[in-house]
Amino acid sequence: MKFKLSALAAATALSLAPMSHAGEVEVLHWWTSGGEAASVQFLKQQLESKGVTWTDFAVAGGGGESAMTVLKSRAISGNPPTAAQIKGPSIQEWGDLGFLASINDVATQANWDNVLPTVVSDVMKHNGEYVAAPVNVHRVNWLWANPEVFRKAGATIPTTWDDFMVQAGKLKAAGYIPLAHGGQAWQDATVFEAVVLGVGGAEYYQKAFVEGDMDMLNSDTTVKVFDVFGQLRQFIDANSPGRDWNVATSMVINGEAGMQIMGDWAKGEFKVAGKNAGTDFVCVAAPGTSGSFTFNVDSFAFFSQSDADKSEAQGVMADAILSTEFQEVFNLNKGSIPARLGMDRSAFDSCAHDSMDAFVASSQTGGLVPSFAHGMAVSEAVAGAIYDTATNYFNSTDSAETGAQQLVAAISAAQ
Ligand code: GAL
Repeated sequence: MKFKLSALAAATALSLAPMSHAGEVEVLHWWTSGGEAASVQFLKQQLESKGVTWTDFAVAGGGGESAMTVLKSRAISGNPPTAAQIKGPSIQEWGDLGFLASINDVATQANWDNVLPTVVSDVMKHNGEYVAAPVNVHRVNWLWANPEVFRKAGATIPTTWDDFMVQAGKLKAAGYIPLAHGGQAWQDATVFEAVVLGVGGAEYYQKAFVEGDMDMLNSDTTVKVFDVFGQLRQFIDANSPGRDWNVATSMVINGEAGMQIMGDWAKGEFKVAGKNAGTDFVCVAAPGTSGSFTFNVDSFAFFSQSDADKSEAQGVMADAILSTEFQEVFNLNKGSIPARLGMDRSAFDSCAHDSMDAFVASSQTGGLVPSFAHGMAVSEAVAGAIYDTATNYFNSTDSAETGAQQLVAAISAAQ
């Protein structure tokens, strides 16, 4: 009896051992819509199954501006979370300030250099060491459409901006809201970005909006971009100011509106509503952008910890994020495609397949460009200048020439 008891105690201790040492993570993110919440829930479950306790630090607000403000105040007060959704050049900024922890041991062990495309892995490193783990690749230049609305209005889904104006006019005449839109600066910038790419092409986009080339910004193409962007004012509804992006998506889902221009996190909302790609909703590249891909890679950066258990938990989290199971399930929920290369595509839908193909094809033609509306391309100061100009212009009756001049002035002041 004595033996039996101690054997049981030993077995119990063994089975609890990994649990008691795996620590806890407090994770900052802004994923609160239906599809986003389902995605983050899976990460939480994965960690809890490995004995890591999850403390949720969600700060609502699409695009993450509010989350970043809260993160800064926590970090400045000396109390950053264990991990935070930080993307693109911001990872370097946080690294330069000395906040981030290396997860290079985990990354080397799991061979991240070989399982990630360099366009992704480069961004995850600071001074040559991994400090962040990528969960996905979102394509931003998408147009989501309700095919039934188009059918009823006798319209066809547009693939050029000229045709967009014609088809949107038909939707409007038939009593539908042509473009579901939320009037928030980041959503204005997301639509503006699609227009920049569709009107100017990838080379113009890269030179003007990533490299800040003043000759390109001062060209007639910029005036044309503002002209097309301004024409969209007539196709949104009067209730758009302040509307959240997922509410705009629901207007396409329920047939109140015909289209939305939004990154493929919108697909997560269609999925939560039980809708299927190709039949209930259609995804096509935003007008004029079929050969291009504005990428937006979500990632978790890890903050330096003094507690060894918390550091260990960061390693467990980083390792879980790059697992094939996580990359598949998370991205099925989120609407994005895996960051990890060589994944089985069979569980993914036609929109994801299009995105995977476009990612590879555009990387060979120069059409793969970072999203400035989603923190992947430029410093926060320059992104802020673009946001302000786009949103002020969209909410005014200014001419295209004025919009273009204001953009040039704002970018040169911020650079
Ligand atoms: C993006 C983010 C996406 C999505 C979207 C709306 O910036 O990368 O993951 O959540 O905001 O909140």
